[in-house]
Amino acid sequence: MSDTRHLIGLLLGAEEDWPRAFEAIVQRIGAFSYGNQSHTLDTERVHISPFNLRDPARHTLVIDRLAYWYYHPREWLKKVALMDDVYLLNSPFTFQSMEKHAAYCALMRLGMHVPDTVLVPYKNPVDNTRWAYTSRNYNDSFDLAGIAAEMGYPLFMKPFDGGGWRGVSRIKDEEALVAAYDESGEMLMHLQKSVEPYDVFARALTIGPETMVMHFRPDEPMHDRYAVDYDFLSPAAGQEAITIAQTVNAFFRWEFNSCEMLVQGDTVLPIDYANACPDVAVTSLHYYFPWAMRALVKWSAFCAATGRKASLQADPAPWFAVADDPALDYGAKLGHYQRLADQHFDTERYNEFCATALPDIDDIVLEWVSSPHFDQMLVDTVTATYPESERERFLGHFRGLVGLWVSDERTRLSPRE
Ligand SMILES: Nc1ncnc2c1ncn2[C@@H]1O[C@H](COP(=O)(O)OP(=O)(O)OP(=O)(O)O)[C@@H](O)[C@H]1O
Ligand SMILES: [Mg+2]
Repeated sequence: MSDTRHLIGLLLGAEEDWPRAFEAIVQRIGAFSYGNQSHTLDTERVHISPFNLRDPARHTLVIDRLAYWYYHPREWLKKVALMDDVYLLNSPFTFQSMEKHAAYCALMRLGMHVPDTVLVPYKNPVDNTRWAYTSRNYNDSFDLAGIAAEMGYPLFMKPFDGGGWRGVSRIKDEEALVAAYDESGEMLMHLQKSVEPYDVFARALTIGPETMVMHFRPDEPMHDRYAVDYDFLSPAAGQEAITIAQTVNAFFRWEFNSCEMLVQGDTVLPIDYANACPDVAVTSLHYYFPWAMRALVKWSAFCAATGRKASLQADPAPWFAVADDPALDYGAKLGHYQRLADQHFDTERYNEFCATALPDIDDIVLEWVSSPHFDQMLVDTVTATYPESERERFLGHFRGLVGLWVSDERTRLSPRE
């Protein structure tokens, strides 16, 4: 049996933890068989240097956590996708053009319960010599306080393109509104109806066709934001959260993304879901980190070994055909969206691939997470992240949560042993 080697590129920011995890799991898998062939994944951290647009790419697939803010590698990603068919977990084309605002529009048309949202013109003039003429002739004056009063307080004011809580404020009255708008300066802002009170904040991390819906507590410090919790949503709301997250990704060609939803009773309201390249640090995901690493490796292996082709642009037509069908109610539409997402991610074939090509992956990941190598990675990450006086406390915290995963996972896998 010939062996095909697939080079997986990791395009990284400041993180060391998840790349080490990814590299360790891939190494432990070694060669695997699929389609009468042996496959091996090699990993490489991508370096940044001048590139000729005609240079052939060496990678089969690239996982990117950098290009959303660093544009040289973003343009490299676009080049290797267009010229060399390199598979990217997130399309840089749609991510560049379809920011938070576009994602709101798409989900509204699909019938999701996106809170009422208004895009407000810039507070300060854009830096352009044509501004004065355009402004004099075409910029209508508007009554921001009147718009806010009609939407009803409380509201959120936040940038149309997101960005890690930058410029986000909760507006309780007209005074706060004026202050927030004055401060927005040259940022372009949405005014959005606040969803409150809500029962649960659900944050869904999706990698390929796998979604983990987690109970999120945004007011806690980073290391405590994800609660280890089960059954915090009704089965219907839980399924809806999965469908919404996978719909966003299948629609925009994102395959490694997180989706934030506020849940009131059984109503799921998505508020933020253009987070391609999401945070997967062990210091924020803790208990859920092994799941995320396993899914990332499985999906990468599937895409590489099956020669999956990436589609560079979105194709809204089949989604809008469902959205615009007056015969379908919301529940029926959700069913159709889930089927479209399953088709896009080739979910059935993916499950079959995991069962036949990577039958031992669960044991491999469990063995690695229980090993001293994982613990060393955790120690190094805690050392790099926290001041010395807090390290012992945090190490205990994360060891405890990962230890809980290990014991839950042993129980889950024990009937097979
Ligand atoms: N409509 C809303 N109703 C209630 N809370 C909201 C609403 N919009 C935003 N928030 C709160 O503000 C936080 C930040 O808003 P949002 O997620 O939209 O911005 P962001 O800059 O993308 O943040 P991040 O990238 O860190 O997730 C949310 O996690 C949520 O706690
Ligand atoms: Mg957010």
